[in-house]
Amino acid sequence: MLPRTNVHSRRMTQRLRIAAISAVRSSRITLLFCCLTLFLFFVLASKTPSFLGWEHEDLSPDYYDASRKGYALLINTWKRNDLLKRSISHYTSCPGLDSIHIVWSEPDAPSESLTQFLNHVVQSKAINGRQIELKFDINKEDSLNNRFKEVRDLKLDAVFSIDDDIIFPCSSVELAFSVWRSAPDAMVGFVPRIHWVDQSKGNTNQFIYGGWWSVWWTGRYSMVLSKAAFFHKKYLSMYTNNMPASIREYTTKNRNCEDIAMSFLVANVTGAPPIWVKGKINEIGSTGISSLGGHTEKRTECVNRFVAEYGRMPLISTSVKAIDSRDSWFW
Ligand SMILES: *[C@@H]1O[C@H](CO)[C@@H](O)[C@H](O)[C@H]1NC(C)=O
Repeated sequence: MLPRTNVHSRRMTQRLRIAAISAVRSSRITLLFCCLTLFLFFVLASKTPSFLGWEHEDLSPDYYDASRKGYALLINTWKRNDLLKRSISHYTSCPGLDSIHIVWSEPDAPSESLTQFLNHVVQSKAINGRQIELKFDINKEDSLNNRFKEVRDLKLDAVFSIDDDIIFPCSSVELAFSVWRSAPDAMVGFVPRIHWVDQSKGNTNQFIYGGWWSVWWTGRYSMVLSKAAFFHKKYLSMYTNNMPASIREYTTKNRNCEDIAMSFLVANVTGAPPIWVKGKINEIGSTGISSLGGHTEKRTECVNRFVAEYGRMPLISTSVKAIDSRDSWFW
């Protein structure tokens, strides 16, 4: 009897062991499956506006009214009324927008129909009776420095400088604005550029301007371009009244580099790098000067010219980038 029971129980143990092993295996698969499902659920759920009752809270228009904290849109345009209409229609829907200043440098004044259209857009988009002010800043001479002319009667400190051919969603604009409020002396923008010492010249006072690819490759930048940036309004008056006139003359003559000049000015004041904010760029026009050949060489010339004016290189590079923590998955 005993041996038989022994054999039997040994078989039982063996069977149990096999069952146990496959149970472990299948439970691992189940666990993996559960994790995957959970992960997918979180990814999908986080895309819905209200996730587990945690709202993605956007700042309401009241918030801006109560604290009188908003910004002025300073939009640079040139003979592209259709783009201007599209941009302004878009930006008027962003909370925090207080006034719009169109930098107009064409020989002809804005047409009646354009003015009417824009006024209508601004009035129809007014939220809670919040009236957005719309003004044309008309310039006789056609100079790139026009975009940084002082704007009279600006109630608020923040200026959002933008070209007529790029659109950022309001969420990106709000993010940049809140970054600017944390660092109101800094230039805060979406389009970073870099400079570096020209090693080939063997001279530490010669620099090279680096475009988008250079920033992408190195992860570093030392300027944010004024075609999409927040800055304090005081820099407008400094650009026109305090910056060496030779720099303004140079940008007018060469029809380039007013944005580099502004970056130099701010860096000279703050002694700190600008701040790059992540934003979704939507370019609606495609005929900017940056698409022309020889652009980088001209920009390099500007950098070296301005370094000579300042007697030193004021730009400071960094690799910091501000993002919305609600859009980043893992800490
Ligand atoms: C740079 O800033 C200093 C003061 O911090 C000022 O004296 C100087 O004029 C500025 N340079 C230029 C070229 O604006």
